[in-house]
Amino acid sequence: MTPQAVLNQPLTLPHGTVIKNRLLKSAMSEALGDRDGAPTPEHTRLYQAWADGGIGLCITGNVMIDRGALGEPGNVVIEDDRHMAALQAWAKAATSHGTQCWVELNHPGKQAPKGLNKETVAPSAVPFRADMKAFFATPRELKPAEVRALIQRYGKAAGIVQQAGFSGVQIHGAHGYLVSQFLSPHHNCRTDDWGGTPAKRRRFVLEVYRAMRKAVGPDFPIGIKLNSADFQRGGFTEEESLDTIRALADASIDLIEISGGTYEAPAMTGVKINKEPVKESTRQREAYFLEFAEKARAAVKTPLVVTGGFRTARGMAEAIQSGAVDMVGLARMLAIEPDAPKRLLAGKKPVHQIKPITTGIKAIDKLGLLEISWYTGQLKRIGRGEAPKPNESGLWVFAKQAWHMALAGRTKRPPTKLRAS
Ligand SMILES: Cc1cc2nc3c(=O)[nH]c(=O)nc-3n(C[C@H](O)[C@H](O)[C@H](O)COP(=O)(O)O)c2cc1C
Repeated sequence: MTPQAVLNQPLTLPHGTVIKNRLLKSAMSEALGDRDGAPTPEHTRLYQAWADGGIGLCITGNVMIDRGALGEPGNVVIEDDRHMAALQAWAKAATSHGTQCWVELNHPGKQAPKGLNKETVAPSAVPFRADMKAFFATPRELKPAEVRALIQRYGKAAGIVQQAGFSGVQIHGAHGYLVSQFLSPHHNCRTDDWGGTPAKRRRFVLEVYRAMRKAVGPDFPIGIKLNSADFQRGGFTEEESLDTIRALADASIDLIEISGGTYEAPAMTGVKINKEPVKESTRQREAYFLEFAEKARAAVKTPLVVTGGFRTARGMAEAIQSGAVDMVGLARMLAIEPDAPKRLLAGKKPVHQIKPITTGIKAIDKLGLLEISWYTGQLKRIGRGEAPKPNESGLWVFAKQAWHMALAGRTKRPPTKLRAS
């Protein structure tokens, strides 16, 4: 079978949803929401470009469930149906040509830059590593009633996503945000019902899934993006991740996307952690987390996706043909070339190569956040109807981003009360 024949195969999820090919656009935060957290015409334009570009399943950038807890300026927020018309316009464009579009729901927990929210909350009040403390505050520990209220928020947001006409939802359980913080023994030092043992640390994500399922019914797809590990000393291990995958599979989750890392150890974009060289097997197979996906495949029958590092149709097709995964996730490639799926599905190479983004200043590059700002800039260009600029300078993008963050910090949003509804 040729690589393009492998990638062109439709995938039927266990409850019957059909995805037209094996390419998944992984979540990329667009930072295009308006000041009230509503999606904008830029979202509609961007997602139309991805739907036109041939992707089978498009996951939105992370959408927040609490306007008092943003992860970045410009997040879309779903707390209630106040932005229904704008959500519907977004969903309509994103699902054209039979594209599946699932909304990624998130709460940043402690991973929100200082100044953006009035305070940050997390399972426990664990500070950031020393060189990040200037940018990220030590969070306040959540009270048990607040934990329960947050779970209800996830459920309510999922119901609104369904009402708006999207085709599914994805729980953001990866990259060091709230769900991932609950799973990690490093970030979750609780000794109540929500921590202290692996089963209690897993309880938050399972309750979030159940609240969503209750809101959307048995047939609406719910997926999760989950870390294979968080690559932090004393953190979430592969073993605990596999147990979490088994528990989610037992609860009948529809699709599991595997990634890894946190802001403090950003393995998700291929940054080397602890100066370990990238293994030759990983380099050849392109994907950063494929070895873990093989272990997950041996543990569960749930459809699996692995994201991070894919660059060629051959690498993608081999991952699927190996049997380890059912789909492959792509992110950065689609920020500089939204119609790369059409080319891959037609047996052509993408036009542009993914290159490391640097400012040339080590201290800044080490923070690992520049890549995100640079690619977000590309998404904004597409949203405005402009062509992406694959050769844009990293230093220029960093300077612009720092300025925007400073401005956003001057207009903080009030936190909303966490109450059960
Ligand atoms: C600009 C940008 C924004 C991102 N935002 C999110 C996000 O909102 N949610 C998420 O799960 N991952 C996010 N990611 C991570 C990607 O989904 C993906 O895991 C990572 O880029 C590795 O895939 P790639 O090698 O194909 O780029 C983001 C990545 C980039 C570059």
